[in-house]
Amino acid sequence: MTPEASPFRPGQPIPIEFFVGRSAEIERLSSMVRGGAQGRFGIGFVSGERGIGKSSLAAFVRHLVEMNDDAVGCHVFLGGVQDLGEMLRRTLDRLLNQSIDRPWHQQMVDFFGDRVRKAGFFGVTLELDLQDSDLSSVEHDFVPSMRRLLEGIRNKKSLFLILDDINGLAGSADFANWLKSTVDEIATSRQETRLCILVVGLEERRRDLVAVQPSLARVFELIDIVPWSGDEVMEFYQKSFHAGKAEVSDESLERLQFFTGGLPVLAHEIGDAVWRTARGPKIRDNEVTEGIVTAADVIGRKWLEPQVFDAIRSERYRSILGEIADKPFGLRFTRAEILEHLTEKDRPVLDNFLRRMRKLGALEADPGIRGGYRFPNHLHALYIYMEKGALPGS
Ligand SMILES: Nc1ncnc2c1ncn2[C@@H]1O[C@H](COP(=O)(O)OP(=O)(O)OP(=O)(O)O)[C@@H](O)[C@H]1O
Ligand SMILES: [Mg+2]
Repeated sequence: MTPEASPFRPGQPIPIEFFVGRSAEIERLSSMVRGGAQGRFGIGFVSGERGIGKSSLAAFVRHLVEMNDDAVGCHVFLGGVQDLGEMLRRTLDRLLNQSIDRPWHQQMVDFFGDRVRKAGFFGVTLELDLQDSDLSSVEHDFVPSMRRLLEGIRNKKSLFLILDDINGLAGSADFANWLKSTVDEIATSRQETRLCILVVGLEERRRDLVAVQPSLARVFELIDIVPWSGDEVMEFYQKSFHAGKAEVSDESLERLQFFTGGLPVLAHEIGDAVWRTARGPKIRDNEVTEGIVTAADVIGRKWLEPQVFDAIRSERYRSILGEIADKPFGLRFTRAEILEHLTEKDRPVLDNFLRRMRKLGALEADPGIRGGYRFPNHLHALYIYMEKGALPGS
């Protein structure tokens, strides 16, 4: 069916009506924002593996609290940003530009005053002409500046600031110390600061941040995003196919659920590949299978690190991967289990494979069992299963 009509959005933000699950996390985050509106400052850290839906959750909550709780939301993507100055520059820029279609835009423009310039080809974006001295004063006076900004916006109770993809900043002592002093300043100030900050990144990055500034460990409210449950995956596919006025059999739905492994990012890639493969709205089982195989290739190229992708596709490891994929799906296996089924020729390659995958971070030792291994990232495991076409029942 035509790609334009596909209800799936691989690699893109999800429209609000297609958002699935995460109700407990939504409630926790929204109540943090509501707390912020009453002067109870909150700072959260949303962690979870790549593609699990951290940014989508943050975006969804932002939408919700802007609608229901009179919050001003700002979602800053900090991918590639490595220093505090640039982080602040981008945050201020987003505060201004994300307000363009919001009722509080004029107040935002007034707040930034003569630093605002029209930019973009059609003048539809605004640029902030900030000098280093501006950034340094925002760095030191961040809390009072945000307080003042909010005071200028009538009818809005709090500011919800999302610092997303802080991966490049996690090792920065400046950033960690700034975050800590911001938190301390709010806690000790006699004036109310109606602010809620959400930091988003991989769990490893949270640990990096805490290693640089240990006091941050007790500051964050932790929200760890785990894979969708089986029912949530089902709900996602049912909703999406229904929206596209297409149908799949229950058997195919189960197969889709299996290969998705609870990862939203895979749900969109697989769904989209199935959609493109199908010739009509009554999608056949063999078209679903074909779509899954196509999706494996797309996922491998798009989402896996090139070295892991090459290793998994290498002829040398073919039988080993076949054995792993033949095991009941569980993201874990032991060396002995795999060795048992390998031919004389492939046995010596196994240790080399395990070493290589561990070095690349695609496998890690499973502390729970001797000679045990596990996939720290679902993407790698699922890719192996998909690439081998290890379809349940086939
Ligand atoms: N709750 C959800 N409902 C529907 N689709 C979702 C949901 N969460 C995530 N997705 C989809 O999954 C994909 C990945 O989501 P997202 O970008 O939010 O993940 P992430 O954890 O932020 O990834 P990264 O670590 O790469 O930043 C997107 O295409 C998004 O639309
Ligand atoms: Mg993200």
